Amino acid sequence: MSARPQPRPGIMQIEAYVPGKSTAAGVAKIHKLSSNETPLGPSPKAVEALRAADHFEHYPDGTATRLREAIAAKYGLDARRIICGSGSDELLSLVTQTYVGAGDEGLYSEHGFLVYRIAILAAGGVPVVAPETDYHADVDAFLARVTDRTRIVYLANPNNPTGTYIPFDEVKRLHAGLPSHVVLVLDAAYAEYVRRNDYEAGLELVATSDNVVMTRTFSKIYGLASLRLGWMVGPADVIDAVNRIRGPFNVNGPAMAAGIAAIQDDAHVARAVAHNEQWLGWLTREIESLGLKTTPSVGNFLLIHFPPEPGRTAREADAFLSSRGLILRRIDAYGLPQALRLTVGDEEANRLLVETLREFVGKFVGMPHA
Ligand SMILES: Cc1ncc(COP(=O)(O)O)c(C=O)c1O
Repeated sequence: MSARPQPRPGIMQIEAYVPGKSTAAGVAKIHKLSSNETPLGPSPKAVEALRAADHFEHYPDGTATRLREAIAAKYGLDARRIICGSGSDELLSLVTQTYVGAGDEGLYSEHGFLVYRIAILAAGGVPVVAPETDYHADVDAFLARVTDRTRIVYLANPNNPTGTYIPFDEVKRLHAGLPSHVVLVLDAAYAEYVRRNDYEAGLELVATSDNVVMTRTFSKIYGLASLRLGWMVGPADVIDAVNRIRGPFNVNGPAMAAGIAAIQDDAHVARAVAHNEQWLGWLTREIESLGLKTTPSVGNFLLIHFPPEPGRTAREADAFLSSRGLILRRIDAYGLPQALRLTVGDEEANRLLVETLREFVGKFVGMPHA
């Protein structure tokens, strides 16, 4: 037996999360389209609140009361049923640690957000994957994989990196099929962007169930990714349990001040939604017209599929785009090595992306397909 410290079982099965790249060598101007950040930046009111923050010698309010009240007021929730975190990532980990122990199973979909797998393994649990149908979460596949060891089920709706969603009726069917002791985590990081009549983030389901929580983030449409701010709403006893293992000052004061201002600035969110609606549609049409397939997205990002033939692959497209300062996301780790994920950017980045992809695709005109 080695005398060296040994990590708990499961830890070394974790492949550390690799964030989207933000640099490319030798390029004057970078357009970072790799992390689903908003091209509009944060609300100016949030920036102002952050700048006005003071008294860094004091610990922040460990219960995030004012931020929880601002969130509760915005969504008509009970502030006592909200917990805030250092990004929703932290809350995903905390809720997992709270309910998953050695040998317990956590279930998520085939191309689901990678943090679920990390959180399950970190808690000593066993990740179980439900296959998707045409890049969509498949409720029947989820339900077929529930066992008596299942403790938690994660559904990102819309999902990252696919950009697809399932209608609220399907979410309710998933919930109805789960044993009541299984926690259903609705990860609604991109909810604000969705414009579909049959979509709901699911606050109603959270309010009326004893086993459903929802995680939300300030990192995406609110443009505060750097400040690390997220929240979760759920049944009182779930929130109480998760609070017991939360770091006492897990959210910092300036971030809370910015979050309160951000969540009250509806006009800024509306601008971001309008920008996304316009450019997501435009990018989808333009990229498809180049002969590349995309997966229909309701988020602020788009999956672009590349052919497997040498010279045309996602890997080569990524190198070509990077050489022009366009940084997209490689998603091999999600089981999608033949696709790149593109975040909707500002007008300049979007137009440059299409022109550069046109050039990449154009190199093969006249070349036979394999
Ligand atoms: C589906 C999904 N959930 C959660 C997160 C975590 O966001 P944050 O920790 O910044 O709140 C992300 C970020 O990429 C995401 O795509």
